[in-house]
Amino acid sequence: MARIAVIAGDGIGVEVTAAALEVLRATGVKHGVPLDIEELDYGAERYLRDGTTMPAGEIDRFRREIDAIFLGAVGDPRIPDMRHARDILLATRFELDLYVNFRPVRCLSDALCPLKRKTAADIDFVVFRENTEGAYVGMGGNFKKGTPDEVATNEDVNTRKGVERIVRAAFAYAVEHGRRRVCMADKSNALRFAHDLWQRVFTEVKKDYPQIETRHLFIDALAMELIRGPEAFDVIVTNNMFGDIITDLGAALQGGMGLAASANINPSEALRRPSRPNGIGLFEPVHGSAPDIAGKGVANPLAAIQTVALMLENLGYEGAAKDIARAVQTVVNAGVFTPDLGGSATTAKTRDRVLAALG
Ligand SMILES: NC(=O)c1ccc[n+]([C@@H]2O[C@H](COP(=O)([O-])OP(=O)(O)OC[C@H]3O[C@@H](n4cnc5c(N)ncnc54)[C@H](O)[C@@H]3O)[C@@H](O)[C@H]2O)c1
Repeated sequence: MARIAVIAGDGIGVEVTAAALEVLRATGVKHGVPLDIEELDYGAERYLRDGTTMPAGEIDRFRREIDAIFLGAVGDPRIPDMRHARDILLATRFELDLYVNFRPVRCLSDALCPLKRKTAADIDFVVFRENTEGAYVGMGGNFKKGTPDEVATNEDVNTRKGVERIVRAAFAYAVEHGRRRVCMADKSNALRFAHDLWQRVFTEVKKDYPQIETRHLFIDALAMELIRGPEAFDVIVTNNMFGDIITDLGAALQGGMGLAASANINPSEALRRPSRPNGIGLFEPVHGSAPDIAGKGVANPLAAIQTVALMLENLGYEGAAKDIARAVQTVVNAGVFTPDLGGSATTAKTRDRVLAALG
């Protein structure tokens, strides 16, 4: 039994999650995957209605009762301080210690490849973004706020444990998935202390993986090389902020935000069970709530649908995951594209075509 908590969230998160759930249910029936889906109403509407972002104790309940969490997107212009999004998304990532933000970047069709003189086959790599440290931990503050002398700081926190576990996860993935190369990106030429730690850890850990070809690039050089020669990359490992940025570049290489899937996982989670070989994970499309197109029925559901595939793979249902990937490929090959990809298909039509391809 796969017990899945679903938080559709805000904006197009609600639309793409509805489509993705239909695909999940159909896949479950086809492949005999017993599903227990619990839909939760956390998001902007609930917060504005009764002040609830995430009820106290909910994450502990997830630990006990849930195998995976699926999240659509959170973010609403009516809540500019993002209070609810922080509690729902960042708190879950941090409290469940989901230190791997895993983002596959694969272009599914030459028609979607944005680079001159490159084809879809050139764009196929994965990013391991550190997910629990770095500049996003919320350490910092203001001094003389609102005055011309204001000082504002955010600390970039890097621990030996945090850096080592994400670097090891990237190498382990490369070995398990037949990927030949691991590239680590930092900015150790400027961030002499924090990113020197990344350098030392990478140098040490790579000795345990002599079969893997390694490379180091400063993050600015990586941004350039991903455009010039994406075919040179298999696995990229980097810190929280750089990973956040470089994976949006990755999404653009895939064809757009509407196609990019991600998993937040903790591969070293102690409390594993057969139904959750990687511990409890949080699975989400990379995109946000897209207020500019919310409610229009044109959001691309393929990122969310591919996220369902990632979730099923992670839960050990590889056949079901591959079937969804095949169905998505069929729909892309048929040129069924939503407006973000230059077509005119709606969310519903794209979903229906995926369901039809699933049979
Ligand atoms: N993980 C998350 O929940 C998450 C991630 C990013 C942003 N956000 C939040 O979402 C809100 C909007 O942020 P943003 O506009 O910077 O990023 P966004 O990803 O929501 O949108 C960026 C652009 O991409 C387009 N787009 C995104 N997903 C699409 C899809 N599935 N189909 C078609 N077009 C798509 C949007 O229309 C928009 O033009 C903000 O509140 C932000 O904080 C949430």
